[in-house]
This record gives sequence, structure tokens and C-alpha cells, in this order.
Amino acid sequence: MKSNTEKFGKTPHQPSLWTRADALKVHADDPTTTQPLVSADFPVLSNEVFIWDTMPLRDLDGNITSVDGWSVIFTLTADRHPNDPQYIDENGNYDITRDWNDRHGRAKMYYWFSRTGKDWELGGRVMAEGVSPTAREWAGTPILLNEQGDVDLYYTAVTPGATIVKVRGRVVTTEHGVSMVGFEKVKPLFEADGKMYQTEAQNPFWGFRDPWPFRDPNDGKLYMLFEGNVAGERGSHKVGEAEIGDVPPGYEDVGNSRFQTACVGIAVARDEDGDDWEMLPPLLTAVGVNDQTERPHFVFQDGKYYLFTISHTFTYADGVTGPDGVYGFVADSLFGPYVPLNGSGLVLGNPSSQPFQTYSHCVMPNGLVTSFIDSVPTDESGTQIRIGGTEAPTVGIKIKGQQTFVVAEYDYGYIPPMLDVTLK
Ligand code: FRU
Repeated sequence: MKSNTEKFGKTPHQPSLWTRADALKVHADDPTTTQPLVSADFPVLSNEVFIWDTMPLRDLDGNITSVDGWSVIFTLTADRHPNDPQYIDENGNYDITRDWNDRHGRAKMYYWFSRTGKDWELGGRVMAEGVSPTAREWAGTPILLNEQGDVDLYYTAVTPGATIVKVRGRVVTTEHGVSMVGFEKVKPLFEADGKMYQTEAQNPFWGFRDPWPFRDPNDGKLYMLFEGNVAGERGSHKVGEAEIGDVPPGYEDVGNSRFQTACVGIAVARDEDGDDWEMLPPLLTAVGVNDQTERPHFVFQDGKYYLFTISHTFTYADGVTGPDGVYGFVADSLFGPYVPLNGSGLVLGNPSSQPFQTYSHCVMPNGLVTSFIDSVPTDESGTQIRIGGTEAPTVGIKIKGQQTFVVAEYDYGYIPPMLDVTLK
């Protein structure tokens, strides 16, 4: 594979590299970057549905926004099947683990509302059956556009393929609740190009998803982050000096790490409305380090760009590892260079005693971090687990220069608004 310079040229920017040396600094169970233990007696949002990725309604500047005093979140959602013979095991019991693990194939976008920023009430599906062009409605971002309540929902239409799409609708409130109207016409925006971003033809395990549109606080233009892999046939990537970084003697062997090729992608809108997009080279690559940098998002603070992305233990390359959780990078300008927060990138990981307790963290500009509960052990050995499919306790972090610190824990699914919009 060509180096970043050969591949992307000199303009408009060089991707920053998350190196193997950076990742060697990742330490699980550092209390300043570890999520407090989630107790196995957590409440569930719903006995009818599982929820996972949570997408708070926000504006293009990143502010979490309520409307007429109602907080709104969107979630990836799938029915629970406690009575479906397909999920009953040989002892006649509901195999919730299998049901949960199958959820990605039937993910749909739902919305919830609340007066308190927690205790969410189910609103329903955002799009009627048949509106979205593919089987799976995967993660993205709902954007409140104006005081009329217009909402652009950017998301990923998956299987067949993976296309970044958007659908426009409107949020309507009453004294009693919130509804979503419209959301009837899905517009495809773009898919991986095979030159900067890996395609399915190049790698059946490719990732291309999770749009996060935003207005750059400095140039005022509309951009979008997304998850990708660096283009090229699977196995063709080179893990060279740049990708390895400054490692101690004995750490030069990269094993099979050429198969891990995650990147954080960026696109710029050619128009005001965000209907016409041009993909740019990735902001950050993790070739030889990790295969997934999911749900990338920004916090703009102190004149800096704090770039966050979620990743897993199982997607790390040979010779490097870290907990499931959220990782972060900081730069003085949008196109970098980005340096890993806390030296390693790790911002909030699961404790090693409960490695799957939470995932899909979203760092909000007020320092609150929301995530969902995946599974929590119910015995000492960790062989018995309780499946979540519900909101995790919110964690508070403090972001200071190139460091972050866990400083607080809040209630389950606590996502308070940063501003309220009175609809006209
Ligand atoms: C993160 C994620 C997203 C994807 C969705 C699929 O938890 O993997 O990247 O959109 O879940 O269910």
C-alpha cells in the first residue's frame, strides 16, 4: 500500500496517525480513564425493545437541544423476543444473549422523549416500515435545523451495502409528549470510494458508517465525520515506521496488524443544506493499531478540536490492546495534526473485571458521557451475565488540555439539554 503522503497528496491535509507506540500507553483500570462499575441490578428502559447507540437531538454546533422543554433522543432499537421459538433454548428458556447478539441485523431508529433528561418515554419508530431503503438503520445524528422544528436525520443505510443517507422530518410537541412527523424520503449522500475509503469489494469486513455533521466553529462551513477503513485490498496495507511510532526495543514486530485499518473520515458539504458532499482524506488513521474507530464526534472547547471515537478490545491489532470504550485526540485546527489524549488516546474504558459493561459512548460538550449497557457479570467468575440493551449511568469527565479525568457519575441515561428551543 502507498504511504499517506503518496496516497492523499499534499492537499488538503495529511491524516494524523494513531500509532502502535501511542496504543502501547493504553492502560486499563487507570481510575482517571475507567468507567465506574455498573451494578448488575440496573433498571431497563423497556421490556419490549433493546436499545444501544444513543443519539441526542442537537444543533449543528454540537449543543444538546430540547424543544419546548422536551428532551429527545434517538436510539438504535430492536424488538426483544422472549416468546419467539427461535430464541428459546433446549431447556425452554429465553436465550436473551443470542437475541441481543442478533440485534444489528434488525436495527431500527426509534425516538424517546423526557421532561427531565432521563426516564425516557418511548415515542416510536422514526421512519415507517419500508421508508428506509435497506434492512438495517444504523447509527447517525439527528439535527434540529430551526425554530420550525425541522430535523435532518443523518444515518447509515446498511445491507445491502453501506450508504450515508439523510431523511428530513419535523419534531412536534404537545403538553403530553413529542412526535416525529415526515421522515418519508431518504436521500442517499455517499458511500466508500475505494480510493480514500475502503469498499466492501476491497474487504468484506469494511466499515463505512456513523455520520456526524457539524458546523466548523472557525470557518463556519458544514462538514461531516464518519467511520471508515483506509482504502486498499484487505491485507495490502503496510505497517511501516510511521504507523509503528517510537517503540522500545523488542516492540518492532507488527505481526498481522496490517489487517487493522480503521480511520475517521471527513466530508465537506458543497451546499448550505448538506445535500451534496465531497469526501476528503481521513482526519485520523489507525493502520496497524485498530480496525474500528466508530461513531466519531467532536467537542469544541478552549479553541481546540476534541475528536472522540469508540473502539473495542477485539478490533485491536496484534501486539496492542485496550478496553472497549471511547478514545480521544486533540488538535488546534480542524485538519490536525491530532495527538492522542492522555498520551494513549484512552478517555473512558470499561474496567477489566466487567469488560463489556458499556459501549457506544458519546461525549457531549458539557463533559457528560452517555453510553448503553451491553452485559454485566452476575457472579464472581464472570460466566453468568445479565444483558443490558438499555441506557448506562452517565459519566462526567473533565477535559483539560491534552488530558481528561473522570470526575462524576449520574443517573442512568441522564442526557440534560444544553439549550431549549421554543418552537414557532
Ligand atoms: C456501534 C455500532 C455502530 C453501528 C451500530 C450497528 O455500537 O457498531 O458503528 O452504526 O453499532 O448496530
